[in-house]
Amino acid sequence: MYIVLEGIDGVGKTTHITYLNQWLESKGYIVEKLVEPTDSEIGKLIRKQLSNPEIITDTNQQILSLLFAADRLTLKKKIANTKKSKERILISDRSFYSSIAYQNNESISKDWIYDINRYMPRPDLTIILDLDPKDAIRRCDGTDTFENINFLKKTRNGYKKLLKYPNTIKIDATPSKSEVQEEIQKVIEEKLNI
Ligand code: TYD
Repeated sequence: MYIVLEGIDGVGKTTHITYLNQWLESKGYIVEKLVEPTDSEIGKLIRKQLSNPEIITDTNQQILSLLFAADRLTLKKKIANTKKSKERILISDRSFYSSIAYQNNESISKDWIYDINRYMPRPDLTIILDLDPKDAIRRCDGTDTFENINFLKKTRNGYKKLLKYPNTIKIDATPSKSEVQEEIQKVIEEKLNI
């Protein structure tokens, strides 16, 4: 099973993935956490670019889209193998849905993002944590160029459009960590039939 947590910077994906890891392990699952960008050489290049103020130009977003897609392919085999297993769960901090939501300016068509990510296995469940960008900014460190209010507003809207895809669900991330975690667990319980 390949479960993905998505949402704008500052929604709390990392915290919730840590809780989920413990909870799923206590239920007997073999759990592994994934993070995009990865720690591959391509991932390192991406992280370096994310603090560059020029990163939001059209061409740089196109370059970044290709880098994200290439970085993601380094996870392909692991994801494909785990999807077949009933007792193994991958919980991923982001997926190609991040590229759809973040690399969403006029110079990039969604079809092209789909194309360059065509060979990646699709998530079995995608949970989109939704939060007002003002609250999100308060929660993140603001060091990356994407961590600015207008960009996050646009990205949040991008995520809303993703809800039409199968196995994709939105959870309000405004309440306390424990309330949000409870909601996430409910959704996963339903998916796993436990
Ligand atoms: P993030 O989860 O914020 O990492 P960290 O908390 O370590 O900074 O991810 C890094 C940034 O990369 C984030 O702003 C979202 C962005 N991103 C994209 O723009 N497209 C993508 O395809 C992915 C995976 C991430």
